[in-house]
Amino acid sequence: MTSLKTVLHVVGARPNFMKIAPILRAAETRGEWRNMLVHTGQHYDAEMSDAFFRDLEMPAPDIHLGIGSGTHGAQTARVLEAMEQVLLTHAPDMVVVVGDVNSTLAAALAAAKMLIPVAHVEAGLRSGDRRMPEELNRILTDQLSSLCLIPSRDAEPNLRREGIPDERIRFVGNVMIDSLLHAMDRARALDTLERFQLQPKGFFLATLHRPSNVDDRDQLEEILSGLRTLAEETPVVLPLHPRTRARIEEFSLDTNGLQITEPLGYHEILQLQEQARLVLTDSGGIQEETTVLGVPCLTLRSSTERPITVTDGTNMLVPERSRSKILMAVNLLLSNLSIPRRPEGWDGVAAERIVRAIADFLSERVGKA
Ligand code: UD1
Repeated sequence: MTSLKTVLHVVGARPNFMKIAPILRAAETRGEWRNMLVHTGQHYDAEMSDAFFRDLEMPAPDIHLGIGSGTHGAQTARVLEAMEQVLLTHAPDMVVVVGDVNSTLAAALAAAKMLIPVAHVEAGLRSGDRRMPEELNRILTDQLSSLCLIPSRDAEPNLRREGIPDERIRFVGNVMIDSLLHAMDRARALDTLERFQLQPKGFFLATLHRPSNVDDRDQLEEILSGLRTLAEETPVVLPLHPRTRARIEEFSLDTNGLQITEPLGYHEILQLQEQARLVLTDSGGIQEETTVLGVPCLTLRSSTERPITVTDGTNMLVPERSRSKILMAVNLLLSNLSIPRRPEGWDGVAAERIVRAIADFLSERVGKA
């Protein structure tokens, strides 16, 4: 009798949790291998991590590395070193990484160096902007991966261009949307709107955390000034990422008139997204969620690794984030609403396709052994 194989799943930061949750569920249902969950601890605050485990009904991690914050080099190196020990101890047959955070790259590198195959969920997304730390993480993680699991068809030419052979690429669709569709009933049942005294479609939701928006004082002030002007007529809710809160305090910036909150839970932010008149964000995931919810989204960035949300969805880029350009973009988007198309494979069952791809990969390896 052969012993059960082990698949080790890695999460580190907030946007990873809603991608791994449905994969773990589907893998457990399939029941063909043992699943282990490692949390690197890149995000560690209760609202950035614990709340998401609870909301997403995820099992507690089998291993918590407690990496915490640091410079990019230090954070990546700490995950690399700690993951190597985990892999030596548990010798999994495959490592699953998601997204583009520092933990993703570090875990993929640790595994690939030990000849443990890596499956990368959300492979092939490219913004074309190498100044974004996430872009470097994406490119390098895909190079290290034996299975590049792509969320949309436009990812395929990106991978080909970087020399990734066809047999490593598999279209699976967008697993974030599995979590979204699973969560919407609970999200709609919450009283978040009442709690913030908001009317359906009567407010703007804003989220900000990219270094390119928040680490530069003048840039951050331009965006806040745009939001303060919008808030003179329509409430603006701004849940604050810890990085953004720290910068606002450090630069002593004015947030008067804005409804500032702590980072919100998964269901709360989904309710606010669905009910917002328009969302302003620099998040990757929110561009996708608003496209599926059919809510207009302004992405305060010069590029996006998710162009399908612009061509098919509700997203519009605001490359120049000055107060006046932001206000113009809000007016333009609100007066030109189009009916979004939901991209192929954003259908709530991407996790089944991911698990099937992993199963095929593992059984082919048995065949070759
Ligand atoms: C990371 C990801 C980014 C993702 C974002 C979502 C990388 C390179 N970036 O950026 O892709 O969109 O998460 O949130 O991996 N902090 C806390 N508590 C926490 C987590 C962070 O206080 O639980 C503070 C720390 O002071 C830290 C700062 O926030 O220095 C930034 O955290 P970090 O994980 O380095 O990057 P993010 O900006 O969150």
